[in-house]
Amino acid sequence: MGISEETWLVTGGAGFIGSNFIRHALNVRDGLRIRCLDKLTYAGNLRNLEGLDKQYGDRYQFVRGCITDTTIVSGAMTGVDRVVHFAAESHVDRSIVDAGAFIETNVKGTLVLLNAARSQGVRRFVQVSTDEVYGTLGDEGAFTEDTPLAANSPYSASKAGADLLARAFFHTHQLDVVITRCSNNYGRYQFPEKLIPLMITNALEGKPLPVYGKGLNVRDWIHVHDHCDGVLLACENGKAGEVYNFGGRAEKKNIEVVQTILRLLKKPESLIRYVEDRKGHDWRYAIDCQKSERELNWKRKYSFESGLAETVSWYLENESWWREVKSGEYQNFYKNYYGEL
Ligand code: NAD
Ligand code: TYD
Repeated sequence: MGISEETWLVTGGAGFIGSNFIRHALNVRDGLRIRCLDKLTYAGNLRNLEGLDKQYGDRYQFVRGCITDTTIVSGAMTGVDRVVHFAAESHVDRSIVDAGAFIETNVKGTLVLLNAARSQGVRRFVQVSTDEVYGTLGDEGAFTEDTPLAANSPYSASKAGADLLARAFFHTHQLDVVITRCSNNYGRYQFPEKLIPLMITNALEGKPLPVYGKGLNVRDWIHVHDHCDGVLLACENGKAGEVYNFGGRAEKKNIEVVQTILRLLKKPESLIRYVEDRKGHDWRYAIDCQKSERELNWKRKYSFESGLAETVSWYLENESWWREVKSGEYQNFYKNYYGEL
């Protein structure tokens, strides 16, 4: 059976990366059917998936539900060939305040999905993970797929737990599992609690831009489209039991990112506020993604400069989208976390 006759279950498809993935996969794989399973937490937004039902008809289906609910999961997985698992609590700062939901969704939810995939005989399970499971780097070096797991935040610990469960299902139950680990994504539909969209939208609102510590921590930035392309290739051509890293080869200090955003928006640097550092703040992430380039023939399309400029334009053109998501529950988190900035 070719991909064009398959049905994939995409969990967390109403979030940032999941929605970009669904749009990308439906666009580039004729005939592929995608069922999205999403609880619609504060981070899930049906506007991210708007228009897909009209554009793709019965090739696209949405199911609202929680991945920890065995009945919902078993129903959603019926007739599914592959599972691409994005659903997660994904924000490090929230995991510092309260890790409970991270364990529930990221660890327990992944177990429920793995059990269902096993009992329903799905062909492949893709565990979408993060470079943060490898811990932190000093000023030199990069994470490879063989770097030992050394998660430092409750978020990354919960993702590492999920990755190890996925690995265990491959070894113990011969479930066909592929794990992907990616660096920091940016692009359209990213919830404005993460660095890049928070800085863009705060600057547009004329609000202060909270920079942790001295702004010298380093992240590697990848455009969400390039990540989605990597997940698609890993899902189709990855080898069972293997891990594939994806990164942007775009290491930047946080302050450089913030300054670039202000320049693109023609806003003053006086908006920057250095605030108390994040607890346990990982110093630097960098990814060696040669294995994915070599074995999956994966190639990035975006430079950081072109990707960031495109992303800033998207937020400029989609003000109603970000104003709506910023006006909800997020306001409570912002007040509690950042105080009177
Ligand atoms: P996000 O927070 O934007 O979206 C998460 C989605 O999962 C939301 O739609 C939410 O409603 C859904 N969800 C949460 N709990 C659920 C539950 N219990 N049941 C069903 N749905 C639930 O996250 P994102 O940034 O799109 O990240 C997606 C995945 O990619 C995560 O697994 C994350 O760990 C991983 N990842 C993210 C990045 C990044 O830079 N954002 C980098 C590497 C890996
Ligand atoms: P974030 O987007 O939360 O991603 P992650 O913690 O998963 O890497 O943060 C990216 C970097 O930006 C990280 O070093 C923390 C920093 N940061 C700030 O300086 N201020 C902020 O308000 C936020 C949200 C992040």
